[in-house]
Amino acid sequence: MKKLTVHTATPYEVLVGGGVSKEAGARVKALFPSARVFVAADENVFALHGQSLLSSLERAGVEAHFYALPAGEAHKNHETLLALYGEMTQIGLCRTDVVLAFGGGVTGDVAGFAAATYMRGVPCVMLPTTLLSMADSSIGGKTAVNLPNGKNLVGAFSQPRLVLCDTDFLSTLPPRERRSGLAEVVKCAAIGNETAFSRLESGTLSDEEAVFMALEVKRTLVECDERDMGQRRLLNFGHTLGHAVESASGYSLLHGEAVSIGMAAMATVGEQLGVTEAGVAKRLTELLKKLDLPIVYGGEKEAVYQNLVYDKKGEGAYVDAVLLTRIGAAVRHRLSREELRL
Ligand SMILES: NC(=O)c1ccc[n+]([C@@H]2O[C@H](COP(=O)([O-])OP(=O)(O)OC[C@H]3O[C@@H](n4cnc5c(N)ncnc54)[C@H](O)[C@@H]3O)[C@@H](O)[C@H]2O)c1
Ligand SMILES: [Zn+2]
Repeated sequence: MKKLTVHTATPYEVLVGGGVSKEAGARVKALFPSARVFVAADENVFALHGQSLLSSLERAGVEAHFYALPAGEAHKNHETLLALYGEMTQIGLCRTDVVLAFGGGVTGDVAGFAAATYMRGVPCVMLPTTLLSMADSSIGGKTAVNLPNGKNLVGAFSQPRLVLCDTDFLSTLPPRERRSGLAEVVKCAAIGNETAFSRLESGTLSDEEAVFMALEVKRTLVECDERDMGQRRLLNFGHTLGHAVESASGYSLLHGEAVSIGMAAMATVGEQLGVTEAGVAKRLTELLKKLDLPIVYGGEKEAVYQNLVYDKKGEGAYVDAVLLTRIGAAVRHRLSREELRL
């Protein structure tokens, strides 16, 4: 088991390793001795792993209330949010209680936002169950729901109070979801850890090490820029184009798949502009291919460029992109729409 602390305004611990969720009850009890726990669980995760979490909470004498959320991005919306608020009021949840988000990034985002806003804020504990949510979304405090015309348009910054990444949960994750999460792991290694990148290339990084490495890279950036105004944006490597690709594909591509295409394109653009060391694009695309991730967009490219106009991270005719300087280091770089090619 590995442990790190995220030093935000209220610091919190992140535990990573096989079986760490067995300690969920005891750890929640230690942090919040008299709280009731409202578990907002992804319905699939609830069916697969709910009993194990319930046992852990029971063993610690924690009063828990489980609520199953419909799975999938299509449900990261106000309807699910209202259903959550409804259940919270129904059981009389109050600010001394705790919300526990049990599922992937969708659950973390919607339950995290519900916790951030219900009664002006209830503490939240994250139990991520996908590779993407363990390696990325469970720390940093970004929570959000989608609007019909765009992703993550309503949200809040609200850091969790504890994060438990139990890598045993990954044994039931569909392979495609796993690959999608690996794209974020590759991203973190590409922008911040060359040694880990080499170990991904040689296939010698365990799940626990991969998640921990990604969280360490993200933690450093979150700590110096909690509100995502500067350095933290390096985490957007591959995302400016990635978001546009994801949306142009009508969400038939998973987030990590779209980010993989975005990263490959940005490495090439970076080399063409002389910002990225020669050979990086080849190394990155080889690794992405080895991990069975896509590196080119098969759909209509014009639709992707059109989407960039609406990218909320874009400024006028320029987009605020991230380029690698070498494997393990990145810089923010403003690109004109002409420079940003797929
Ligand atoms: N807040 C942030 O900082 C942040 C960062 C990155 C991504 N996100 C958000 O995360 C979301 C994507 O998250 P995701 O990729 O985890 O997807 P997800 O939450 O939709 O989960 C993917 C699928 O896997 C299933 N699942 C989850 N855990 C499982 C397990 N252990 N075994 C079997 N099935 C399991 C779920 O039911 C779902 O069908 C997006 O909405 C994205 O915007 C947020
Ligand atoms: Zn991402």
